[in-house]
Amino acid sequence: MKNMLITGGAGFIGSNFVRYLLRIEPEVQIVNLDALTYAGSLENLRDLPDPARHTFIHGDICEPGLVTRLMSEHGIDTLVHCAAESHVDRSIHGPAPFIQTNIVGTFTLLEAARQVWGETGGFEGRRFHHVSTDEVFGSLAAESPAFGETTPYDPRSPYSASKAGSDHLVRAYFHTYGLPVTLTNCSNNYGPYQFPEKLIPLMILNALRGRPLPVYGDGRQVRDWLYVEDHCEAIQLVLAKGKPGETYNIGGGNQPCNIDIVRQICTLLDELHPEGAPHERLITHVPDRPGHDRRYAMDIAKIRAELGWAPRHNLTSGLRATVEWYLGHPEWVAVIAQQSGYNDWLEKNYAQRGGKA
Ligand code: NAD
Ligand code: TYD
Repeated sequence: MKNMLITGGAGFIGSNFVRYLLRIEPEVQIVNLDALTYAGSLENLRDLPDPARHTFIHGDICEPGLVTRLMSEHGIDTLVHCAAESHVDRSIHGPAPFIQTNIVGTFTLLEAARQVWGETGGFEGRRFHHVSTDEVFGSLAAESPAFGETTPYDPRSPYSASKAGSDHLVRAYFHTYGLPVTLTNCSNNYGPYQFPEKLIPLMILNALRGRPLPVYGDGRQVRDWLYVEDHCEAIQLVLAKGKPGETYNIGGGNQPCNIDIVRQICTLLDELHPEGAPHERLITHVPDRPGHDRRYAMDIAKIRAELGWAPRHNLTSGLRATVEWYLGHPEWVAVIAQQSGYNDWLEKNYAQRGGKA
């Protein structure tokens, strides 16, 4: 692993992964291809450790000419595919970009890898790693066992269906062409640089602004939260030790329901930013998300047994670190909230729910 192409490296997980790799892999050269959609920002790539080993390319993964050129010119041996449209609520408002980026974009990358690697020495020593989600497995009942790698796919939102489609394509390229792929399906991430449309950063920023904290439905939905750095470590381990053709489930094992997470954020803010306390007074139940998945949970026995990975952070330490990070980066918050049509999104997603987020 010397020359790595990371897609979506200006987004939340991608930028954390770039940072993580530059810190722990002294040899790797990174090419970071990102279209800078509303979710991506160069603000996420400020003050990188050892920036000379990072090259940013502003472009679309759906452009075959661009992708093949980058792979050839930079002698890419490892591709880590993080680029995606990633927000369920946006996929409900407008599914088209999800199909384009998540399915057509993944297909374009697979074809480029097949072609370029096929023409330059073959697949030996090469790796295509696809970053995916637990949402492809659908929704779990309260008492059902956690998702395993062989749980049948049952996606229920345009987002999860498009990710499921991309996962199937990646596996098909392994079986049909022998492309050396690995996949990780990970649960909900949180941590620094997450765009504040997702639950945890949205609640932090709304609370700081004295705005309502919009909890969908009864707030009893359960996610399997994972601190983003733990996800980065798992991806790195799969690249180093994972077997081509294999999928690894990744999760945090933290499973409180949404309303409890929001309460924990409020308690942390009461301590770290007492102005406006008690923040819980801002909690507002708003109409539910259509087709809202009730519960996700990941069985991580395989990656634990085969690769020795386990999360280092629990929700208590991870949430505290996250709230502290958002409080400590008001400039990032100001730029992100301003440049990305953020207020328009809040208006679109929440005004119709009756909440005033
Ligand atoms: P994100 O929305 O924060 O970032 C996505 C990045 O992809 C952005 O920088 C965006 O500009 C870029 N992008 C979008 N379309 C593109 C295109 N056509 N060409 C090039 N770049 C494009 O997403 P994230 O939360 O960082 O998620 C990264 C990956 O991890 C996704 O594949 C997502 O499905 C998966 N995942 C996310 C979570 C989570 O909780 N955030 C959990 C499991 C898996
Ligand atoms: P989200 O962060 O959008 O991730 P995902 O839908 O991919 O799991 O949402 C996490 C949970 O929080 C999900 O059950 C929906 C809920 N939620 C709210 O209750 N209010 C909100 O404003 C948002 C964005 C999410």
